[in-house]
Amino acid sequence: MRRIGVLTSGGDAPGMNAAIRAVVRKGIYQGLEIWGVHRGFAGVISGDFIPMNLSSVADVIHRGGTILHTARSERFKTPEGQAEALANIRRAGIEGMVVIGGDGSFRGAKVLSDAGIPTVGIPGTIDNDIYGTELTIGFDTAVNTVVDAMNKIRDTATSHERTFVMEVMGRDSGFIAMAAGLAGGAESILIPEFPWTIEEVCERLSRSQERGKRHSLIIVAEGAGQGFQIGEEIQRKTGFDTRVTVLGHIQRGGTPTATDRTIASLMGAKAVDLLVAGEARKVVGISCGDVIVHDIDYVLSHKKEINRRLYDLAATLAI
Ligand code: F6P
Repeated sequence: MRRIGVLTSGGDAPGMNAAIRAVVRKGIYQGLEIWGVHRGFAGVISGDFIPMNLSSVADVIHRGGTILHTARSERFKTPEGQAEALANIRRAGIEGMVVIGGDGSFRGAKVLSDAGIPTVGIPGTIDNDIYGTELTIGFDTAVNTVVDAMNKIRDTATSHERTFVMEVMGRDSGFIAMAAGLAGGAESILIPEFPWTIEEVCERLSRSQERGKRHSLIIVAEGAGQGFQIGEEIQRKTGFDTRVTVLGHIQRGGTPTATDRTIASLMGAKAVDLLVAGEARKVVGISCGDVIVHDIDYVLSHKKEINRRLYDLAATLAI
């Protein structure tokens, strides 16, 4: 292997730059040429490649976003798009690829692997919804962003004796809501994985008000319901003064935490090692602070589950 490509795809996540840096620096250390691809799989189709050197990744370890830019490419899902992409990779002499992204990006990585381009996936998404890894790049930063916002909301909720609903990201999964809800002491955590009803939420609120609580914070993953709708129903059913905050894309930006930089560095370096060792169709992950490796098909065919014990504990502690 002489030349490898690296791309970021799907939603950006803080720490992606640290992963790109690790791929570039470890690759050059191993005597490889590293080419960056702009805008994920869309850039593979348009042949938007740039050679990278040690200074291409200077001063990026602390920056959110992705210096390679990212995209969600519909065209790459078509046979024509894939044929163009593969032709470009071969024309550029790229012999292996590192794909940093989430579930959709891994499906793209599988397409490249199936076509004979050795490819390794690095889980990068704030949602943490990738099987086979305890953490994905960006999750820890996003959770800390949410907890910071909860602390601020709690100040004003306490002053005004109000109920707050905070909607966080997680279109299909509740990992952010779950982790932030536990760490931030939310009264209720609403996630798509576990059923909930507005009646239960209101009952819980009323019970805690009877016990003397004068403010409450409910956290809802976007995949479990709409914050504004839930807030309106709570106000209507309980009469409690209720406000709603939708955090949105604030969760996707910001300087990555030390944890995100560390796991990104570990996984980026490992991805290069795997390609050099002739491994293909792999995804790296984190378990107990170290890097692990799985087959891409194994990762794609399993769904990561929310830890029910954490969910129950959060409910117990929020009484
Ligand atoms: O990065 C994952 C995610 O944050 C989801 O939780 C969210 O629904 C989605 O991306 C939104 O992404 P975009 O606004 O880029 O389409």
